Amino acid sequence: MEKKGIEEKRAIDTNVIYCGDCKDILKKLPEESIDLIYLDPPFFSQKHYGAIWDIGKKDNPIKTQFSDKEWNKLKKVIKPDILKMYEHIEERWKGGKGKGIHVYIAYMRERLEQCWRVLKSTGSIYLHCDWHAGHYLKQMMDDVFDYENFRNEIVWHYKKWSTGWKQFQRNHDTIFFYSKTNSKKRTFNISYMKRAQSTLKRFGEAKIISSFDIKSGERLPAKISEENSKGVLMDDVWEIGRVPPIKQRNPTEKPEALIDRIINASSNKGDIILDPFCAGGTTLISAQKNQRRFIGIDISRTACYLAKKELKGNVKVYGSETINEIQKINPHEVANLIIVERWNGIINPKKSGDMGIDGWVEFRTIPVQVKRWEHKVGRPEIDKFKTAIERDHKTKGIIIAKDFSKDCYAEVARIKNENKIDINLVKFEDIFESHNRSQYHYHGRPIINHPAFMIL
Ligand SMILES: C[S@@+](CC[C@H](N)C(=O)[O-])C[C@H]1O[C@@H](n2cnc3c(N)ncnc32)[C@H](O)[C@@H]1O
Repeated sequence: MEKKGIEEKRAIDTNVIYCGDCKDILKKLPEESIDLIYLDPPFFSQKHYGAIWDIGKKDNPIKTQFSDKEWNKLKKVIKPDILKMYEHIEERWKGGKGKGIHVYIAYMRERLEQCWRVLKSTGSIYLHCDWHAGHYLKQMMDDVFDYENFRNEIVWHYKKWSTGWKQFQRNHDTIFFYSKTNSKKRTFNISYMKRAQSTLKRFGEAKIISSFDIKSGERLPAKISEENSKGVLMDDVWEIGRVPPIKQRNPTEKPEALIDRIINASSNKGDIILDPFCAGGTTLISAQKNQRRFIGIDISRTACYLAKKELKGNVKVYGSETINEIQKINPHEVANLIIVERWNGIINPKKSGDMGIDGWVEFRTIPVQVKRWEHKVGRPEIDKFKTAIERDHKTKGIIIAKDFSKDCYAEVARIKNENKIDINLVKFEDIFESHNRSQYHYHGRPIINHPAFMIL
């Protein structure tokens, strides 16, 4: 047995994505286990974020932000249960003029305190935000990570279509960079950028110009040395183009070049990168490309599976999949989970209302309909689904629900006999585990539902 008191080395499962609220998932990660955290949380304005992955058009299935005008329009057509969820978020963030921001900061603080706990003493965190809440977040970060450990306010400057407002264009985001400690051992790899035109004119390109003592940081008169120059030290204003809308997997997607720069500066090959709001996986993709390990978290199942699709190798997605937990997930996410992840099928981009078909399995040959959790299916719904199957020119179909009335089974038999259409009735309990799986424990506390976290 290893002696206690010696630094414990913890192995955690990496190259994984957890589906859930990052507050809960982060609590389950061991302390001081992560080398670098990048997070790009929903901003204060994105009040309807919780379900962004849920509605949209066929050609642009993911929409994240809605103006008040758009939102009022959307409210009229949105499914009632999703609307209820949005309104709950909206209510929480309203709180009167200026007050909602404090709810948001409190929400973020809970999560950032966990980020601080899981970060190694050599590690760093980059918090991506903008004018909406940036100044409040900086104050809170100074408290959680300590003012001493603040390293940079990085300005990510980009160009976008002008809006014609009576003010200057808002063309930058802010990224707050903190190290966990002020230690000299903290990871930071120097990078360079091109020399300014005036410097090039005066000194040329090739040789290093030293203007300070690298050891003491003391300023010295500018001197051209014999060594070839790599450029000047990278500064904190980054000019990087946004992902063009046509290429975006979600409208808040950040450019890989931006994440690459962060990952290369504040981690080394093999290090563990965490993104607690990973969305479609930009950070994870960059981590994988730069030979780092990664852990992604997103509250949206759809986002988690989109991210998985973009990554190479066998990336596992862990999430709430017991029968108890499935009840809390919104219906569209449940349909995605069953049709796409479990059965390797495809989801219907037209969503509900389209003949009641939520997706297809077996190479688009079998339509699937997933009912809301609490719904017990009756005979008329079987008949409607039969019509949907016929219109889709198929001969088979599957309905998934909590329960079916007795006459459903008789109706299914009749349809098979008379119409040669084979409808399968599947209960949620046939797909998901009915009990909480056994939990692993870490220092007496239950941890995530799989052997991901173990002490070496
Ligand atoms: C601004 S997006 C991140 C975009 C990402 N950086 C990219 O490049 O695509 C924020 C993400 O946070 C997720 N999210 C919102 N609340 C969350 C929570 N409490 N825990 C985990 N993820 C959450 C949303 O589903 C969304 O995918």
